[in-house]
Amino acid sequence: MYNEIDLDKIDISAEPPMEEPARQYYFMAKCREWVREFEQRNKRHPLACIQTFGCQMNARDSEKLRGILQQMGMESTESETADFVLYNTCTVRDNANQKVYGHLGYLQTLKKKNPEMKIALCGCMMQEPKVVERIQKTYGFVDLVFGTHNIFKLAELFFQCVASSNMVVDVWDSADKSVEQLPTERKYFFKSGVNIMYGCDNFCSYCIVPYVRGRERSRPSKEILAEIEKLAEDGVKEVMLLGQNVNSYGKNLSQETIHFGELLRQVNEIKGIRRIRFMTSHPKDLSDDLIAAMRDCEKVCRHLHLPLQSGSSRILKLMNRRYTKEQYLMLAERIRQAMPDISLTTDIIVGFPGETEEDFLETLDVVRKVRYDSAFTFIYSKRTGTPAAAMENQVPSELVKDRFDRLLKEVQQISSQVCMRDVKTVQEVLVESENDHQKGYVSGRLGNNLLVHFPGDTSLIGQIVPVELVEAKGFYYIGRQWSERNEKIT
Ligand code: SAH
Ligand code: SF4
Ligand code: F3S
Repeated sequence: MYNEIDLDKIDISAEPPMEEPARQYYFMAKCREWVREFEQRNKRHPLACIQTFGCQMNARDSEKLRGILQQMGMESTESETADFVLYNTCTVRDNANQKVYGHLGYLQTLKKKNPEMKIALCGCMMQEPKVVERIQKTYGFVDLVFGTHNIFKLAELFFQCVASSNMVVDVWDSADKSVEQLPTERKYFFKSGVNIMYGCDNFCSYCIVPYVRGRERSRPSKEILAEIEKLAEDGVKEVMLLGQNVNSYGKNLSQETIHFGELLRQVNEIKGIRRIRFMTSHPKDLSDDLIAAMRDCEKVCRHLHLPLQSGSSRILKLMNRRYTKEQYLMLAERIRQAMPDISLTTDIIVGFPGETEEDFLETLDVVRKVRYDSAFTFIYSKRTGTPAAAMENQVPSELVKDRFDRLLKEVQQISSQVCMRDVKTVQEVLVESENDHQKGYVSGRLGNNLLVHFPGDTSLIGQIVPVELVEAKGFYYIGRQWSERNEKIT
């Protein structure tokens, strides 16, 4: 594994090796030398800042990027006043793009004060040729651009970038190889994401992800299990299995026949792991076998994120989701029958081209029937190159805004009622951090992912403790640590 490689023993005067990951370790060692020179020149460590936009997939990629920077000898900072700033971008909706362009203006002002500063962009946005063109044309102060398929090359690209005064651009169309044996620097010592598959083949008609993340590729189960065992040895208690469509895990593995349900069962056997989550499930591939695996595995959290997108069968067909309203409702029913205490959450898009008031009412109907614990609601965003972008009858924005507000109100009302369900019960909480707003409080998550704030100190961080949920506040709870002693007092 990576931590057995001693970078100082690598001969950096030799030619770089061609094979991976050896090549990247060679460049990490090269960059380390650059870092030493920087330190001599400036009498301080070089600071590196990674800002992550978008989903869990990007968050996990950023941990890998941070791991490489750390091996190179860079010190990590949250502040963009740094010597190396890397934006790991998202392009799922236009506002994600606009945020990045907005931030770039600010980075330019910082670079004027620190001319040695290097600015890099990576992630999903960079997979769009149009975006790279715009960066080259308008944002010439950017030093490095790379995509989603070659994040493992960060050390090599950084080295290229400090050696050249031109913008380095390296974006791959597809991933013919994924290099996994590289360092990672986890944000939390007690929980971690684990990629079980990359890419997406579903081509929902509104969505840009299949274009920027490439074809669906599952990782061999042995590799995944070995990674989780290693994480458990490192003290990780909760893992989140990541993929755009985890329910189709294993479909394109040539060496083995394994489905997602079986993978869950195997992860459930790993000692030290106490909680298993996964993201995201596509309703069309959610099998009875998976429901049974969830029910049987005590470590799998009683939470399922099941994106609905729309409640209208007509719109679902146009979205290429490949299920109907009725099939979705029946699926939700089967899941609830198997696990009555399960918490269901969802994603909904409002204003897909051609959506009528009737279609929207069908969405509201599903929301009222399923009664989600929470729902992420999005206004449809036109993504160039997707089939939906070329559809006629895009919905006028005032109508969309009105529907969005009505939906949000409904969703919030239902979630605050659903949240009341667990008040006065005692539940296990994985404590994540000190509470930012209230001194003497810590915050953690329930199995269903809801937040709980309760009086406690930082020694609890990373522990799973029983907490009585005293008060429901809509999307979170106020609790108190439970012990037999305080039960006797009350
Ligand atoms: N693979 C996941 C979703 C990844 S994108 C799944 O299929 O569930 C996360 C969410 O962003 C989607 O569920 C969808 O609700 C939303 N989304 C994707 N493309 C969008 C677009 N063009 N406009 C608005 N919302 C979008
Ligand atoms: Fe996008 Fe659909 Fe793939 Fe999810 S399943 S990433 S919404 S194309
Ligand atoms: Fe965004 Fe890419 Fe995730 S587009 S939602 S960061 S896969």
